[in-house]
Amino acid sequence: MPLITAVRAHFQQQFQSTPTQLFSAPGRVNLIGEHTDYNDGFVLPCAIQFATVLASELNQSQVIQIYAADYNELHLIDLTKAITPVATPRWANYVRGVVAGLINKGLAIPGCNLVVAGNVPQGAGLSSSASLEMVLGLGLSTLAGAPLSPADNALNGQQAEHQFAGCQCGIMDQLVSAAGQAGHAMLLDCRSLEFQAVPMSSSLSVLIINSNVKRGLVDSAYNERRQQCEQAAQFFGVKALRDVSLDMLEQAATTLEPLIYQRARHVVSENARTLAAAKALADGDVTSLSQLMAASHASMRDDFAITVPAIDFLVAEISDVIGNLGGVRMTGGGFGGCVVALLPHDLVPTVMARVNATYPAFSGLTATMFVCTASQGAQALEAAVTAQHADA
Ligand code: GLA
Repeated sequence: MPLITAVRAHFQQQFQSTPTQLFSAPGRVNLIGEHTDYNDGFVLPCAIQFATVLASELNQSQVIQIYAADYNELHLIDLTKAITPVATPRWANYVRGVVAGLINKGLAIPGCNLVVAGNVPQGAGLSSSASLEMVLGLGLSTLAGAPLSPADNALNGQQAEHQFAGCQCGIMDQLVSAAGQAGHAMLLDCRSLEFQAVPMSSSLSVLIINSNVKRGLVDSAYNERRQQCEQAAQFFGVKALRDVSLDMLEQAATTLEPLIYQRARHVVSENARTLAAAKALADGDVTSLSQLMAASHASMRDDFAITVPAIDFLVAEISDVIGNLGGVRMTGGGFGGCVVALLPHDLVPTVMARVNATYPAFSGLTATMFVCTASQGAQALEAAVTAQHADA
């Protein structure tokens, strides 16, 4: 059943009424620029067609009742009390974090009935949680009569991750989910939060290959990387690794602790690759894209140490098929998750066949693959459209 239809049906069943407003916010895939966002650097993600949908109505009370259809769970938030994290359910902390942030900003969040459901693969590094935060931020701020700007929505969602979900994430996932543009990737400066839309090449498909490797201890490994980057920035006496050049880094090669040097080298070189890749994408220079994505993967594997054997295997296999006609690398926070490939449309079936033929024997797992389209960021859905088409 299409997502919007399902959300409306759940709403009817849960609250015996029809929602007055619907919103959606997408997941994302990052084309290049990994672990650069919290170093004030550059990223090049695009929003994808998988999304989280929110249906809402005011309920004239001081309570938010939110039903997560994907978990078949109802969670209540008493707006007259302080909002703090809960031990379970985990998903509720994203909601509580977003609501607490909005209230802190002075928004008068009204009591309401909500249903959320999504089709962004979870735990795959495609930002299902950011899409939940962005749809809630837009939906609840709209209900409060003061819709947040995409940047404010993104910052509020990031705070929710930091304070309620325990992940010290950067701003990329939230910002592209809030402000992505259909048909375009987003070159985002994570220091100024300025972004520009980079047209996706019409001759390339975006193929996502989910390794289905179960990711463990992701948040703690992620937070550790972030802390190592901060240590490197401190060594150079700068605010963030964004301010370190490759030259500065080379000069510190023998004085900086080797592990910290490697982490910094990934970030500093990845920033340069991201800017170059945005230009290559805009220019249709696939050979350069191919090299930049390969170098990005090698850097994540060797310097940042966030890949796993199954992911390295997928990247090697796919690269063997597409050569310099496209690019392939791990995407997202790491330790499992997905690989992204930019490749000519007619090579998609060949890549899928190769992955299906070789990956299970290597990993004991089956990969899930989908072709993605660069999609629109968070939006209120027109009532008329949602009633007629119901096809998010
Ligand atoms: C996760 C985080 C992002 C970013 C990526 C790695 O998705 O949420 O902020 O740091 O990892 O690039």
